[in-house]
Amino acid sequence: MNERERWATRVGLILAMAGNAVGLGNFLRFPVQAAKHGGGAFMIPYFISFLLLGIPLMWVEWAIGRYGGNRGHGSTPGMFQALWNHPIAKYLGVIGFVGPFLIVIYYAYIESWTLAFSVFSLLGKFHRLAAGQPGGETLQPFWDFVLGFIGAKDAGTLLHPSLWAYGFFVITVFLNIWIIARGISRGIETLAKIAMPMLFIFAVILAIRVLTLGAPVSPEHSVWKGLEFLWTPQLDKLADWKIWLAAAGQIFFTLSVGMGSIHTYASYLKSKDDIVVSGLATASTNEFAEVVLGASIAIPAAVAFFGLQTAQEIAAGGAFNLGFVSMPAILTQMPMGELFGFLWFGLLFFAGITSAVALIQPTVAFFEDELGWPRKKVALILGIALFVLAHIPIFVNGALDEMDFWMGNFFITLFALVEIVIFVWIFGMDRAWEEMHRGAEMQIPRIFYYIMKYITPLMLLGIIGGWLFTEWIPTLKQSSPGIWLARGVVFGGIVWGWIWIYRAFRTRKQGAS
Ligand code: ALA
Repeated sequence: MNERERWATRVGLILAMAGNAVGLGNFLRFPVQAAKHGGGAFMIPYFISFLLLGIPLMWVEWAIGRYGGNRGHGSTPGMFQALWNHPIAKYLGVIGFVGPFLIVIYYAYIESWTLAFSVFSLLGKFHRLAAGQPGGETLQPFWDFVLGFIGAKDAGTLLHPSLWAYGFFVITVFLNIWIIARGISRGIETLAKIAMPMLFIFAVILAIRVLTLGAPVSPEHSVWKGLEFLWTPQLDKLADWKIWLAAAGQIFFTLSVGMGSIHTYASYLKSKDDIVVSGLATASTNEFAEVVLGASIAIPAAVAFFGLQTAQEIAAGGAFNLGFVSMPAILTQMPMGELFGFLWFGLLFFAGITSAVALIQPTVAFFEDELGWPRKKVALILGIALFVLAHIPIFVNGALDEMDFWMGNFFITLFALVEIVIFVWIFGMDRAWEEMHRGAEMQIPRIFYYIMKYITPLMLLGIIGGWLFTEWIPTLKQSSPGIWLARGVVFGGIVWGWIWIYRAFRTRKQGAS
């Protein structure tokens, strides 16, 4: 078996974990979800989900990861087997092994747009689009540009992406795989040490720029209206459980819990490295990036330029509308808009790449740890697989959303339930508590013992039940060739994962006997 790698420094570890969590979800998905679900009405369920789901699961995943890593397992099949000596345990870990890779198949494509758009901003492309319409009163040219870029104009079943989109995608896959091939400390940790400070600097500059816009177009529309919309609690909406489902879903996606990537990063810790403070630091950094920085850019800017109602309509159109259409349109109207455009898409790119490598690493760890394959070989094979499979979301209309529905919602929630049941109920809450506190620099407040044991699993059950009725059954009824292909990739990926788990653990057993 290969010698397992380790993080070189504590600060590198925290930055890498923060990079894992802080992603496109913070700057694109969060503002969209918040605006769609009533701004202030969303925030209370969001913070409660953070406390009752996000933080407990963060500690659980760090603890499972360190426990498994110290026993030679960097991915959840082996980790679950180490926690629960039952033949089925390893198969339950499949989502934490293939799930993140299935996410990165479409995530990397979006990441590549951010790289492309940061270059376009610097080259003044968006200013040329705006030039035809002084005052920039319509979003249409920007919308046409995005549709042309991804080839969605007049698209039927197939999309016709531009050469730019394809070219930047190839560059992005190469960059991701190159970092993975360099390994944990030389690749991922080095990336985090560069990208995370840059991301925060870019985001702070942009947030200040947006917050000092005042009311640039009309006295009725101002950034403060945007902030007021996001931050005025609406207690009367607390009974709307769809808002609770959306808030919980956002917490999952943004913290990267239920994905397997936190476990894998934690598997490179030493047995007595603290996880309580580090886990909390990761979650807090993510929340700072999301609710302080993420909330202060795209929505307040859209409200200041287009008014609250239009801003809500833009957000309702999704992350692409808000991030790739409305933001370039707004930034072109500011002095030094090219530079601010570069900062916006640059920060998205750093957010995207640090999360994308975290999504690839669990699959790399599986092949390295369970089958003894060398890292470079695994990186190359996964790079080719990523490149080939990404042709489905690139070329098939609707595939990206369908894959995101299954992987970014359904399976991560299910997986979180599975992991917490294994750790807290099968491995045992007392042992789990002791495991979390080994080497801890701080005691977790005792109330979390009960939250983890009862409240988090019950909330997860409630969410799964709620989604089953509101979204999954209606979604299952949708059907088109693209949608079926996307489902085929997701479910085929899971079966493929089970086959490899079977092979890996059979080889291990034979090796042991
Ligand atoms: N947590 C990552 C994000 O927010 C996946 O994008």
